[in-house]
Parts: sequence; C-alpha cells; structure tokens
Amino acid sequence: MRKPIIIGNWKMNKLQQDAKELAKELIPLVQGSLADCAVCVPYTDLICVKEVLANTKIGVGAQNAHWADNGAFTGEVSPAMLEEIGISYCVIGHSERRQYFGETDKTVNMRTAAVIKHNITAIVCVGELLEEREEGKTENVLRKQITEGFKNFSEDDFKKIIIAYEPVWAIGTGKTATAEDANATILFIRNTIKELFGENVSQNLRILYGGSMNTKNVDELMSMPEIDGGLIGGASLKAADFARIVNYR
Ligand code: PGA
Repeated sequence: MRKPIIIGNWKMNKLQQDAKELAKELIPLVQGSLADCAVCVPYTDLICVKEVLANTKIGVGAQNAHWADNGAFTGEVSPAMLEEIGISYCVIGHSERRQYFGETDKTVNMRTAAVIKHNITAIVCVGELLEEREEGKTENVLRKQITEGFKNFSEDDFKKIIIAYEPVWAIGTGKTATAEDANATILFIRNTIKELFGENVSQNLRILYGGSMNTKNVDELMSMPEIDGGLIGGASLKAADFARIVNYR
C-alpha cells in the first residue's frame, strides 16, 4: 500500500525567523498523523528549518536543484549541496518554474536524475494549462511531460520519485479540480506510468494532487483512491491550516 504524504511548498515566502516559528508550531500539531509530511522551503531557510525539525516526522525539502554537482552555473544550487546539508526532498519542474524560468521536460529530466542520484526524493510536478484543458489536450500534455520527463529512467529510480499532478489553472487561484476529475487524471497518469515502466512502478508510485488544496477540500480529495497526498502552497503557510490538511479525515 502507498503511504500518503502531504507536502508544503512555501514558495518564496518566510524569512528565517518566521520560518523557524512556523516549523516549530507544526511539530506537535502533526505528531499523530497517519500521513508522511514534509515542507519544501526557500534555500536560505533550509538549514534553520532542518535544525528545528531534527528528530521529528517532518521532512525538509528544497524547491529546485541543478543537474550538475558543481560548475559555472551562477545562481544555481546543486543536489550535492542539498545532500550535504541532509535535505530529503526536492520539488522539480513546478509550473512556476516552467512558466517563469524556462524549465522544460528536458531540464526536468536532468534535474530529477541528478537529485535521485544524491538520495533526495524528487517531487516532480506535471499539469496542464487552462487553455490546454479547454481544448481537450490534458492527456496529451501529461503524456508528453511524463514520457520526456522520465526518459531513460529505470524501475529502481522510481523509488525516489513522487509525482505531483498540479493543474496550472488551480494553483493559487482558489479553483480546485473536483475530486472526481483529479482522481481520473491521476489514474490516467498512473496508467501512463504503467505503460512505460510497468505495473510494479505504477502501483508503488505516490501521485499527489496540488492546486488550491485546503482545509475545506482535503477530506474529499484524500478520500479518492488514486490520490496519495497533496502538494500545498498557500495553505501551508499557516501552521493550523497545514496541520489540518496533514491530519485529514
Ligand atoms: P496552492 O499552490 O496550494 O497555493 O494552489 C500549490 C503549488 O503550487 O504547489
């Protein structure tokens, strides 16, 4: 059985003092949760949040990583650097990176391969734009993101991979996919993975929903059989809200 996981994506929010306070507040609130739990924080918060969350059940992740171990890549951070400070997760290919920073399926592929090589679990984001959905292209878009994003990956690689399905039109907009739609699309993703990498990978792979997941819709979304967790943006910035999501019923 796949263990559910709820992951906070703080995006470019929280100076260190606030970051530490939020992390500290979370610890007792999520202690009894059945789901795994992690927060993906800005680079400058990684070390201090990691310290606060040491020996707790809350994992710490970054939001991007380069594909090389080192080199002339001004402004980038390598997976080796993240591994050195004990980071367990890294978001890759978030739609905001695809949209504003030229991330492509090819760079997603390279970053993911590098991250897992350093024993960091990659949270690989896929999802369609509103116009793609309206034109009925959702499945084609996802198939391409998956085929190219995981090109040359092995069955073993998927032990360090989580997929987050985030319809771009649902991110930060307050519009959530209906639980049925999210479930059906995640089933499509799982079937595509099965086609490409086999039954075993597809059954063990955790696939999350993301996009305006919050305290009000989490219970319904998490009741769906294909949805193995959530990637939470806005609602992860308040301890009580994020904890309520982690402790979904
Ligand atoms: P949101 O963001 O929950 O604020 O919609 C989700 C995400 O971008 O990962």
